[in-house]
Amino acid sequence: KAQFESEKLFASKTFLITAGPTKEKIDPVRYFTNRSSGKMGYALAEQAALMGAKVILVTGTNALPEPKGVKVIHVESAADMYDEVMAYADEADVIIKSAAVADYRPKLVHDSKMKKQAGDMAIELERTKDILFELGQKKKHQFLVGFAAETDNMEEYAKNKLIKKNADMIVANNVAADGAGFAGDTNIVTIFHKDLSSVSLPLLSKQETARRILLEISEKLGDDCH
Ligand code: CTP
Ligand code: CA
Repeated sequence: KAQFESEKLFASKTFLITAGPTKEKIDPVRYFTNRSSGKMGYALAEQAALMGAKVILVTGTNALPEPKGVKVIHVESAADMYDEVMAYADEADVIIKSAAVADYRPKLVHDSKMKKQAGDMAIELERTKDILFELGQKKKHQFLVGFAAETDNMEEYAKNKLIKKNADMIVANNVAADGAGFAGDTNIVTIFHKDLSSVSLPLLSKQETARRILLEISEKLGDDCH
């Protein structure tokens, strides 16, 4: 019965979820990326679908099988992710930005393979657009959830992100802690709400962490106070 109820929880809600790393091209054979596995975002997509939501998942490249019942859109760069997220943002009730988006990209992408030369080299980088920040600027009815991947000062940085990006919730994790972070199947997160109250979850599978995050979201949607 409990399962039946949680299946109905997000009926008639549309979730836009992002996952995975982005890749920023340097030349045709090289790119910059990060250690995100995509597992947390995929778990959120899968669990939201199980709870009855219509789910659109915009994801960077990873090795994971596509979750059942989810519309999956594959992207490579931060700019591609920006375009797809903005295209679907209006129809979403909840947007969860669990992707690890590049903050910088090469200012110049070479058309042909760069050849090595004597001495050192430098690659000039420029800032990418902050997708979560822009969503926070233009949001209307959407409930906006960001992630904060930190190695230190987690609470302070997470609260700053919540305020600066005008999010309704930030899910923070210490990616340096045992059992948390990118590659594994478990996570340890703290959820920060808009009123700066927080809920710390214990070490859990990423699937169960996702379910608990979604239950927190559901409670806040019920309050209808965002
Ligand atoms: N984010 C985004 N677009 C970017 C960078 C980050 O949408 N160009 C989102 C992430 O998906 C995440 C949140 O912003 O939900 C926080 O990302 P994080 O990398 O932890 O923070 P930043 O704001 O990028 O700051 P920093 O990396 O310096 O800690
Ligand atoms: Ca960042």
